[in-house]
Amino acid sequence: MTEPTPAQVPADSTVEEAAPYGGGSAESRPGPGTPAAIKRVRTHHLQQWKAEGHRWGMLTAYDQYMAGAFDAAGIPVLLVGDSAANNVYGYESSLPVTVDELLPLVRAVTRSAHRALVVADLPFGSYQRSPEQAYDTAVRFMKEGRAHSVKLEGGAEMAPQIELLTRGGVPVMAHIGFTPQSEHALGGYRVQGRGATADRLMQDALAVQAAGAFGVVMEMVPGPIAAEITRELSIPTIGIGAGPDCDAQVLVWQDMLGLRTGRAPRFVKRYADLHSIVDAAAKEFAADVAGGTFPAPEHTFES
Ligand code: KIV
Repeated sequence: MTEPTPAQVPADSTVEEAAPYGGGSAESRPGPGTPAAIKRVRTHHLQQWKAEGHRWGMLTAYDQYMAGAFDAAGIPVLLVGDSAANNVYGYESSLPVTVDELLPLVRAVTRSAHRALVVADLPFGSYQRSPEQAYDTAVRFMKEGRAHSVKLEGGAEMAPQIELLTRGGVPVMAHIGFTPQSEHALGGYRVQGRGATADRLMQDALAVQAAGAFGVVMEMVPGPIAAEITRELSIPTIGIGAGPDCDAQVLVWQDMLGLRTGRAPRFVKRYADLHSIVDAAAKEFAADVAGGTFPAPEHTFES
């Protein structure tokens, strides 16, 4: 019988030696982000952390291993962003990605994240037409993807969608400021909420809160405006390019870990240089194969 490779053993396998991240239950793996006593992060924990001034990080995840690693590290909220369009599927923007392309990624993340709250992004065109359309899409993400909540882009104009989803049992994270799905309508990647438009941004934040959102992402918003909105709201704000005063911060993992190369947006901090590690390892592998030093006897089965 062929032995399963580590990649073939399911993450929730009971095979002891295959347990990822050193094994142990999700509860016994405290990380700096999630208080150890919390077995599953819920939206009410995020409200509580806002009240207590406890700041937290959210990262994108699109697959089993990164979701498992971030979950084990104590990242309390994982976003299966529509940024998978660029970071998984190789599209030029987030616009082309579909519900059917995102669903398997959501399922992989929810299978692997034992403690984190998983947020699934609703892709462009899957919720804007009507609250009913939004509800049908969100239900697919919760039933088929097992997501715990969804995220959608837009402010006051999305209030009817957020109201229906919330009434129907779907927790909603809103996303205001620069909203990548509206890139063409907004005239490109630009900071939002400067000058006279700051008031509009505040109105959007208040509207999504009143509609029932449990949190709001603010993207590319001037720091002082984001700080004012954060003070005004009772729900947590999650910043990306919105300065240090938001209740939480989010980054795309390929940016954060330096897998994506080239010029990064100003708001990205690279915590690692995965691209160099991958590059060096791939070249070493190729050289070993060419030179006949891989596979070695220890990688070879006896007859
Ligand atoms: O899709 C995504 O990754 C996002 C984050 C940038 C907030 O929406």
